[in-house]
Amino acid sequence: MPFADYKTALVTGASSGIGAAVVERLSREGLEVHAVARSAEPLRALSERTGCIAHAVDVTNREALAELTGRIAFDVLINNAGVDRPKKFLEAEDGDIDLLIDVNLRAVLHLCRMVVPGMAERDRGHVINISSIAGNYNFGGNSTYHAVKAGVAMLSNQLRIDTFGKRVRVTEICPGRVATDIFNHVHGNDPSIRERFIDGFELPQASDIADAIAFAIAAPVAVNIGHMEITPTLQVMGGLQTAKPQTPAASSEGTKR
Ligand SMILES: NC(=O)c1ccc[n+]([C@@H]2O[C@H](COP(=O)([O-])OP(=O)(O)OC[C@H]3O[C@@H](n4cnc5c(N)ncnc54)[C@H](OP(=O)(O)O)[C@@H]3O)[C@@H](O)[C@H]2O)c1
Repeated sequence: MPFADYKTALVTGASSGIGAAVVERLSREGLEVHAVARSAEPLRALSERTGCIAHAVDVTNREALAELTGRIAFDVLINNAGVDRPKKFLEAEDGDIDLLIDVNLRAVLHLCRMVVPGMAERDRGHVINISSIAGNYNFGGNSTYHAVKAGVAMLSNQLRIDTFGKRVRVTEICPGRVATDIFNHVHGNDPSIRERFIDGFELPQASDIADAIAFAIAAPVAVNIGHMEITPTLQVMGGLQTAKPQTPAASSEGTKR
């Protein structure tokens, strides 16, 4: 359907990384792009570069999102804003759990609630949800991030069922590691963080993810690209680990039944 059939797009998490690249790409395709993030200054620069309309808004601010989505009929919704607080779940902290649920899942659910019914009514629309390989595979890190991204994956499937019969397309993008500043946003600005996650690796760039999103949007209206997993060629998921116990197992001898 192509870009010519769509007029407006809403991109969350647009102040950096994948979101900013998507705004650049969709603006080039001629859409009126509304860019949402908390940081006003990078959004202002993005707006100058691309002509996008900047909204310095926190995605947890439901009233602000309701005002925006009530005012503009969005043809394309890109749920991209995301945060992480990686830690073993054994060390999980109260506020981290709430933050990930609020930004990575609750805001996605509410934006879909606000935007998708209008798409169904107009029989036209495309929702792109940026999840993560963490929504589909387990690896050491942060169980809350896995849990909320799995929620986004399941929501993406479900949206297609709930809009069945309408030309509302839903695409879940599952990135592996992408060369963005997310690692600095998560772990701090120490140069060792870039060395650990970016420098010396061959990684997809944010613009590669934006190109994949543009491909899904540009497909004919009869085509729904439901799921794209995009990883570095030199990254794999999975593996098998078997641990030896650190302490002997408790003897069952003498225990009461
Ligand atoms: N890079 C990767 O390796 C990777 C891999 C898998 C999945 N992803 C997913 O891809 C998406 C984009 O990540 P990225 O790599 O581009 O990271 P990034 O550069 O850190 O960008 C994250 C964006 O989210 C915005 N954001 C965070 N909290 C927000 C809030 N409360 N309200 C509004 N905006 C908020 C940030 O803007 P402000 O701080 O200005 O609000 C920023 O624009 C995320 O959902 C992430 O989980 C990334």
